[in-house]
Amino acid sequence: MPGAELVGVQKTVSLVLKAKALDNRLPDPILGDKYAEQAMRRLDPDYDNRRFGTSQMGLAVVVRTKTHDDWARSFLADHPDAVVLHLGCGLDARVYRIDPPATVDWYDLDYPSVIELRQRLLPPRAHYTLIGSSVTDLTWLDRIPRGRPVLMIAEGLVPYLTETDVRRLLTSVVDAFPAGQIQFDTVAVWAWRASKWFPTLRKYDTRFHCGFNDPAALADWHPRLEYVDEAPMNDSPVLMAKAPANTRRMFRLLNLLPGMKRSTRIVRFRF
Ligand SMILES: C[S@@+](CC[C@H](N)C(=O)[O-])C[C@H]1O[C@@H](n2cnc3c(N)ncnc32)[C@H](O)[C@@H]1O
Repeated sequence: MPGAELVGVQKTVSLVLKAKALDNRLPDPILGDKYAEQAMRRLDPDYDNRRFGTSQMGLAVVVRTKTHDDWARSFLADHPDAVVLHLGCGLDARVYRIDPPATVDWYDLDYPSVIELRQRLLPPRAHYTLIGSSVTDLTWLDRIPRGRPVLMIAEGLVPYLTETDVRRLLTSVVDAFPAGQIQFDTVAVWAWRASKWFPTLRKYDTRFHCGFNDPAALADWHPRLEYVDEAPMNDSPVLMAKAPANTRRMFRLLNLLPGMKRSTRIVRFRF
């Protein structure tokens, strides 16, 4: 099967891809990502015959994806000359969903093996560059044009990095560009600590390496960085409006547990 060569954290791409593909089967999807379904069919030829059950707990991830898309669209509408750094892109089809104008230069970065798989599943396009590198080896930044506004998107990536690496990444991006928006998601400290017991992460032999109870405070890492806002995930109105009834009930129950509603925080900064 294509993708069998992925190891550890790289395998988490399949979790989020499946969530997006199943969303696309809903009568009124949250994201409506046809590319995710197409990629799932290529990766798993039996995808259409599989029984996935009616519960869709992965929809919280789809809400996260939609939030990042909405924030990116609004930044690009105001900054049509921007450079986009989509870090830890996995197999996400954001560049195709957003379809930015030719004035935007878009960079998708992930480990080389993930990028190779991406190239087999998703088509090339103009003003779009793939970078196969660890995000923590910051030499990739030398390949990005400077002097333009930057949009940095890191969806489902930051928890897999150490706090030291997140800090180096954020401060290096702010130092490299005149202005921009940085959007990502983090997990709470309890979720970071407990992640070594999470069955889905154990299955892929990975875990989280950082967590923040107050992600807004990360703005203190750089004098030019300013916290903007946070979007809901596990209790988001779109999830409660569009998820199947049994999934909504599960989230309502889960959200009664302390710390659950804010176990993942989707946050936006500007500079
Ligand atoms: C949970 S997946 C999210 C993928 C994608 N952002 C999405 O939302 O569909 C995490 C991704 O981060 C990538 N990743 C983790 N650590 C990385 C690193 N140090 N450098 C580059 N990519 C990394 C993994 O390979 C994987 O593609």
